[in-house]
Amino acid sequence: MADFELMKNIILYAEENAIPIIQKPALDFLLKTIKENNIKTVLEIGTAIGYSAINMALAGCDVYSIERDFERYSTAFDNVKNFNLEKKITLIFQDALLYNTSKQFDLLFIDGAKAQNIAFLEQYRHCLKPGSFVFVDNINFHDLTYNKCKLSRDLNQLTRKIRRYVDYIKQDTTFETQFFDIGDGIALSKLL
Ligand SMILES: C[S@@+](CC[C@H](N)C(=O)[O-])C[C@H]1O[C@@H](n2cnc3c(N)ncnc32)[C@H](O)[C@@H]1O
Repeated sequence: MADFELMKNIILYAEENAIPIIQKPALDFLLKTIKENNIKTVLEIGTAIGYSAINMALAGCDVYSIERDFERYSTAFDNVKNFNLEKKITLIFQDALLYNTSKQFDLLFIDGAKAQNIAFLEQYRHCLKPGSFVFVDNINFHDLTYNKCKLSRDLNQLTRKIRRYVDYIKQDTTFETQFFDIGDGIALSKLL
């Protein structure tokens, strides 16, 4: 099967099984960031079924990607195999908050549980070197992050934690951070 058909099938599978994957505007921006900054190595938190990892590998990156859900990890494994990208993508079945590595990466793509962005960054910041990037999607969380309307308790907690990440990364002067109103909102930080 051609790559574009395989990709269409992954998107369809994600839709049918309610698996969240990166949306097109954010993916395009992620791939543009990779290209413009000559990013070669990526650590991704949250593989899901491998959609973003496969796209980054097709853009030339070596990707390490961590997923804690076994079914999703297995599906990602099959998808990576179908694209013959086993040499470019290393899949890790583990809770990212328990995993550890001493490898260095050009980009940390944090796309796991949104409430844990700070914890993920703290867990892996030693894997970054000056010039490395941190990419966090869904900063606006469906326009709810800075919306004053009344939210359910869970959503309220989640948006509070996303705001906390925004404040945290803004005040961390070891990073230069830019926010982009692309898709669901992106924070892109560069380690100085
Ligand atoms: C938004 S999806 C990832 C989408 C994927 N990056 C893509 O665009 O194709 C988030 C994934 O992170 C996983 N996840 C959440 N918290 C995690 C953790 N602590 N460790 C590993 N995986 C985690 C979830 O199981 C889910 O599959």
